[in-house]
Amino acid sequence: HDLSYANTMALACIADTVVTLTSEAQLDHFMASYTDDSELNSSLFVLSGGSNVLLPTQLQATVLRPDMRGITLINQTQDHVDIEVMAGENWHDLVIHTVNQGWYGLENLALIPGLTGAAPVQNIGAYGVQLEDRLQYVRAYHLPTKTWHHLTAADCKFGYRDSIFKRTPNTWLISRVGFRLHTDATKVLASYGDVQTVAQRYAKLQGRGQLTPIDVMHAIINIRQQKLPNPAQLPNCGSFFQNPIINLSLFTSLQSIYPNIVGYPMPDATVKVAAGWLIEQAGLKGGGIKPIITHKKQALVLTNHSPYQATQADVLAAQNHIINCIYEKFAITLAREPVWVNADGTVGYGEHEV
Ligand code: EPU
Repeated sequence: HDLSYANTMALACIADTVVTLTSEAQLDHFMASYTDDSELNSSLFVLSGGSNVLLPTQLQATVLRPDMRGITLINQTQDHVDIEVMAGENWHDLVIHTVNQGWYGLENLALIPGLTGAAPVQNIGAYGVQLEDRLQYVRAYHLPTKTWHHLTAADCKFGYRDSIFKRTPNTWLISRVGFRLHTDATKVLASYGDVQTVAQRYAKLQGRGQLTPIDVMHAIINIRQQKLPNPAQLPNCGSFFQNPIINLSLFTSLQSIYPNIVGYPMPDATVKVAAGWLIEQAGLKGGGIKPIITHKKQALVLTNHSPYQATQADVLAAQNHIINCIYEKFAITLAREPVWVNADGTVGYGEHEV
């Protein structure tokens, strides 16, 4: 099974077995015949939209692909709407659908690639909103015990680009996500970057004096299209590194050398630094190791200039080069953001293979 076209980074990958799941019952059925005896069965790996993974050239695993569909209105009151979304629904289509229905709250997360079921894994976030702000629960299958679970938002233990699903990999398959959205067309979050300015332009064009979530959605689509490469045209997996969180004293000393350094103070006397800024300052915007090159408009995104041929090893070479340069210049160690998949289907996060 060729998965080279099933990952947005377009890395060459051949997998042993791929099972597409169109219903929860199909997973029960499949798992009834599955034993985790490695003599009989290869390990299980869940692949969703493939927009946040780095796949190995040979993947000796059984790849489960959630493809359950459906958006169900569960409950509607004067000011809020509860919906349940099946894992296989495309995330951006869901955002557009909800906003068109007058169900607001997801508009800041427009144009994030991937499927709904993967959104909780890394607690997707953009322009001041994280998935955890809207999510109510997750229904997920626990692979080791072959049981279904209802996890509340608290059970998911969300953090910045983090969750229980990410911390205990190869364990959960998410089948449904429950959201609470709102119906107040005057409530928007437009404080991040240029969102306010661009949204106001949209609102004005529509003859509106006040911003609505629709204007914010259009602004965010517009901003993302300006900066982030479309994976269909230039393969990538979004931000390649997390924005590092450093202590205030390191930030202050860096600030004395680099007055323009971009950092966001956190509540606990740490600072989240814009990794894209660090990479650009290190002279690596448009750099890297061919064919894996940082994007010329957003240095935090690594792009693959040799689609379907480049491999994980190429990514590793470019990644380590960037990590080393940044460490030498700023004494900050960048951590990778997308999921690194080993040849046996196990995964690693953040660590820097050499
Ligand atoms: N910057 C540079 N040079 C660059 C890139 C960025 O100087 O090459 C500066 C910008 O000028 C800005 C700051 O860094 O002052 C932050 O840049 P931006 O607003 O583009 O956001 P980011 O911190 O680089 C994060 C998320 C993105 C998300 C945006 C918007 C992470 C790892 N990335 O990027 O998420 O879209 O904020 O909210 O947190 C993703 O995870 O795949 C992703 C795209």
